[in-house]
Amino acid sequence: MEHLIRGWDGEYVVVRYDRQANAWMFIAIHSTVLGNASGGSRMKVYDTPSDGLRDAQRLAAGMTYKWAGVDFPLGGGKGVIALSGPVDGKERDRLLERYGQLVDSMRGAFSTGADLGVGPELVKIIGRETTHVFGLRGAGDPGPYTALGVFTGIETVAAELFGSSDLTDRTVIVQGTGDVGLPLCKKLAGAGASLKIADINAERARGVAAELGAEAIEADAVYSEPCDIFAPCAVGGVLNAYTIPQLRCRAVVGSANNQLGETEDATRLHQRGILYTPDFIINSGGAIALCGMEALGMSDDYVVRKILSIRDMLKSIFDEAKQNDESPLAAAERRARRVLERGPA
Ligand code: PHE
Repeated sequence: MEHLIRGWDGEYVVVRYDRQANAWMFIAIHSTVLGNASGGSRMKVYDTPSDGLRDAQRLAAGMTYKWAGVDFPLGGGKGVIALSGPVDGKERDRLLERYGQLVDSMRGAFSTGADLGVGPELVKIIGRETTHVFGLRGAGDPGPYTALGVFTGIETVAAELFGSSDLTDRTVIVQGTGDVGLPLCKKLAGAGASLKIADINAERARGVAAELGAEAIEADAVYSEPCDIFAPCAVGGVLNAYTIPQLRCRAVVGSANNQLGETEDATRLHQRGILYTPDFIINSGGAIALCGMEALGMSDDYVVRKILSIRDMLKSIFDEAKQNDESPLAAAERRARRVLERGPA
């Protein structure tokens, strides 16, 4: 872990080993250039604690770009509770309380909220120990707001590629039916898309598909199954040297953080002619809603308008990328870096 921390381009990492649960807690603060760090907390079983640390660092950097992308006066940070095995019930709740105490000890240098494995209900448990949590007042569950941003992005991409934002009969594969995937599926079904749904929990995928009149597909079929748009809404790293050659979609538009295995994967997608919407832009809806309403005093209306403006942001990113014959990621990162160089507005 030493070389991960030394070699990182972020600011610092807070580490706590939790003996009771044999779990590690990492709070990675990537950049406070624009303001105090804010980002979700994720809880997951990792093969090694170092994998959890690496995830926290990469996700924290993603948050720096996310805040810069929407030009909010917040910095990039992320919390990871790296489990050695599944926890449940009281044991899990106590662990989250201890995590809440760790967040609280940072006295506002990091504020947090929901992420993979820490749904809105579990955020409440963290919130027993600290006020530095988002999602308990105002915005509530960020999932539907993130889904709204992704849906808008899918329409924008459809307009870009097919000349119309109408999704009727457009085939969309949604990977993951969690806090974002589920509301996204509902919106897509409502818009008449031909929907294919996958989840590592196959039974859950079948249930959601039956409810929405969609098709459930095998979890590992998502890459090779033909579709117009692939929406990864679960774990990160799903676009990599192994999966990209299999893809039979025209675009990737999903909510997962850190979708690319490595930066070069953006170029791999570009070379295959697959339009990639940078994750930190497309999935910013939840962050906009949570921190916009609960930290920056924005109204629900304003926040929704801001989320819908992801459309214009994407359009200008696509235009810039086209002009430079580069991947949209390169254009989006350049935009974010401009904001970071300028500093808080
Ligand atoms: N975890 C979500 C994200 O990455 C939502 C979130 C944003 C939670 C900011 C807390 C703070 O966007």
